[in-house]
Amino acid sequence: MNLRDLIDQVRKAGHLVEVNTPTCPDPEMARLVYRYDGRPVLFDNVSGYPGWRVLAGVASTREYFAMALNVPVEGLIHKLVAALEKPVAPPVVQDAPCQEVVESDVDLTRLPILRHFPSDGGPYVTAGILVVNDPDYGRNVSFHRLLRLDERRFAARVVEKRGTDTALSKSMGALPVAICIGNSLPVLLAASMSPPMGVDELAVANALSPVSVVPCHTIPLHVPSDCELVLEGHLTRTSAPEGPFVDLTETMDFVRRGPVIEIDCITHRHDPIYQALLPGKLEHKLLMGMPKEPTILAAVSRVCHCTNVVITPGGASWLHAVVQIEKKGSEDGRAAIQAAFQGHGSLKHVVVVDTDVNPYDPLEVEWAIATRFQADRNLLILTDQPGSSLDPSGVHEPGKKARTAKMGLDATIPWGADRVAFEKVRY
Ligand SMILES: Cc1cc2nc3c(=O)[nH]c(=O)nc-3n(C[C@H](O)[C@H](O)[C@H](O)COP(=O)(O)O)c2cc1C
Repeated sequence: MNLRDLIDQVRKAGHLVEVNTPTCPDPEMARLVYRYDGRPVLFDNVSGYPGWRVLAGVASTREYFAMALNVPVEGLIHKLVAALEKPVAPPVVQDAPCQEVVESDVDLTRLPILRHFPSDGGPYVTAGILVVNDPDYGRNVSFHRLLRLDERRFAARVVEKRGTDTALSKSMGALPVAICIGNSLPVLLAASMSPPMGVDELAVANALSPVSVVPCHTIPLHVPSDCELVLEGHLTRTSAPEGPFVDLTETMDFVRRGPVIEIDCITHRHDPIYQALLPGKLEHKLLMGMPKEPTILAAVSRVCHCTNVVITPGGASWLHAVVQIEKKGSEDGRAAIQAAFQGHGSLKHVVVVDTDVNPYDPLEVEWAIATRFQADRNLLILTDQPGSSLDPSGVHEPGKKARTAKMGLDATIPWGADRVAFEKVRY
């Protein structure tokens, strides 16, 4: 389902907040998106940017993903697993809505790019996905926050050793890049995944829900044909200060140098919708965390029978997970903890529960810890592990992977115990 169809669906369901009064992208919009966190907000009247609408929050609950992928919420993880296992190359079309208007006279200040906090380094593109081509691995698609520097340039945050960084490090000069904004949820979800190198994220998106691609005007890349806006340009070998920026953990990320992107051509729809997301809030969290659920599920399934995995928003949707297993042996809980850390390298704390505990409900998970867990028997602590760059409590040294302690709680019913003593009564 494309973005516009989803907007219609959430409007019909009565979830869409439509703001018709003039609203400014700096910083009035961010305040309203924050107020309605968990609901899509469409700004129909953007002060200073005639012809543009702005959308945020459309990826802020699992229900919207379920709507877009036409599966129940509990089925999402299995849909992701299936798409990762069998990506389908997207068909190429020659005419596309995202190219209805072509502008070679580039001026990025004409786009309603939000500034989220007065302390941010400037206006930031937050829901843009970057398409690049790696000479060895082919197309790579991923999210990168982009600080607008001036009329033609951005500074990008490009995490080392991932797809974009790997492709850039191989290019002798500038690397062609297409920045796509206003994407369907399947495309956004696929872009936030890290499948093995060589797997095309747009083929994963197409396996989730049909997506076609169109050739760009000025660079040898293809982009999702029904996105709203495409910025065609080059990632350069020059860098500029990038930050500060409030990130996933809702704490301030510091200033680093990031590669500069120069834009040569802009294409968009006749009546474009600029898509934004509020850093650190539900939409950012879900898009970061959900793609890690299938990778943890796959890792835990290698050691025991794993029935579900939920990355929880209280753990910044990155550092905490609940793993649900059907226990078939005394060591399953402990094995599941170790495997979960393999399935998501940035995971810091994990709770393992039985199938009678709803992993989406924090009260039920805490109940399982309260009634099934003993710290001297069921706690696994690992010291000095590779950790997340996003966790301010980790040990961070420039140029080195962050270090952290990790903890796993086996909150499953002890093997061989009388289950009746542990199972919740039915009221
Ligand atoms: C909303 C959102 C924002 C992100 N911002 C960045 C970013 O600024 N820089 C970055 O390197 N990765 C960022 N990521 C993570 C990458 O998109 C993600 O790790 C991606 O899957 C990397 O894929 P790759 O390993 O194929 O390159 C972000 C992810 C999400 C969901």
